Amino acid sequence: MIPYPIYLDHNATTPCHPAVLEEMMPYFAQHFGNASSSNHPYGWIAEEAVEMAREKVAELIGAEAKEIIFTSGATEANNLAIRGAALSLQEKGNHLITLETEHSAVLDTMKALSRQGFEVSYLPVNSDGSVSRGILERSFRKTTILFAAMHANNETGLLLPLREMAEIAEEKGALFFTDGVQAVGKIPVDVRESGVDLMSLSAHKMYGPKGVGALFLRKSAPYIALEPQITGGGQETGRRSGTLNVPGIVGLGKAAEIAHQEMQQDAARLSELRDQLEEGLLSIPGARMNGSKAYRLPHVSNISFGGLPGREFLLRVNKSLAVSSGAACSSVTDKPSHVLTAMGLDADTAMATLRFSLGKSTTKKEIEQAIACVREVHQSLVHA
Ligand SMILES: Cc1ncc(COP(=O)(O)O)c(C=O)c1O
Repeated sequence: MIPYPIYLDHNATTPCHPAVLEEMMPYFAQHFGNASSSNHPYGWIAEEAVEMAREKVAELIGAEAKEIIFTSGATEANNLAIRGAALSLQEKGNHLITLETEHSAVLDTMKALSRQGFEVSYLPVNSDGSVSRGILERSFRKTTILFAAMHANNETGLLLPLREMAEIAEEKGALFFTDGVQAVGKIPVDVRESGVDLMSLSAHKMYGPKGVGALFLRKSAPYIALEPQITGGGQETGRRSGTLNVPGIVGLGKAAEIAHQEMQQDAARLSELRDQLEEGLLSIPGARMNGSKAYRLPHVSNISFGGLPGREFLLRVNKSLAVSSGAACSSVTDKPSHVLTAMGLDADTAMATLRFSLGKSTTKKEIEQAIACVREVHQSLVHA
């Protein structure tokens, strides 16, 4: 049997929590009804389960249940938020703002919109990945309709100030959308307190199943019009048609409930392990941390190892550790991370970078083994 490497890639995906799996199981074969079948109990049972999940997701982020739209994941939620808002507001303006360090689900959606006549400003970031307030404020135009910036960066764990960004957007008369995928379920996120208009989240990043996510759409005044991107049977109040993925949605609801209960203790435990990992790795000559020590997720560390051949380094480390060098999608290409290069790293250093993302199953022993592994591989390449 192939020995499994230690899993330190929880930002790519997390295993389904056993309680999530258990909650989902009856909705595959026993309660298999279509949540839109309103004429018989099969449909009612499915609908009730969906509505219960909606309440749990809403509770996790301080929203109301009617503000949650279920989707096939955060990629779709990001598309719905950005395209949906842009297309419904195009009479008002055609300018969109985002950051160079966003996830490809945001950046590629923006690029597609720019081919349809929208103008997009991609704001540069500082060396820690943050955006300067002055640059942000100056980037708004009379025609700006939407500003999109993620809450927590998937590669560095850097946290951006949601409330401040939402306030600036509101002052300038634009909507504020945040990709909340990496923050929701890991740290407290409250859509009311932070004032965001739209926020995406994904079940598989918080111990739920893959292929299901949600978009928070603020329902309080002033009204937000959102052009549906998938049309058909009119599910999700017409904003996202298609038969609802009942088992997946039930799983997302349970994952949200568990996150609500366990987030605080997980964060405390994982930040200690993360600190231990950094202590062990940052003493390696040429090692440096990317991002900000002050504003970041508790379970993520992004470390560059200067002067090493990046591809070879990652290949050797991956024999013992499941870690990535950037986002899961850029790991399969040989390109340096666009997040790290936007933060000013040169291509070689960006390639010789490891993203560690810890999770519920991570132990102290695994962290010790991870430190030993990276040290050993580093030594072997330095002396090669
Ligand atoms: C920040 C961020 N946004 C969006 C996504 C896409 O989410 P999903 O896999 O649910 O489509 C991911 C996952 O890689 C992510 O990390």
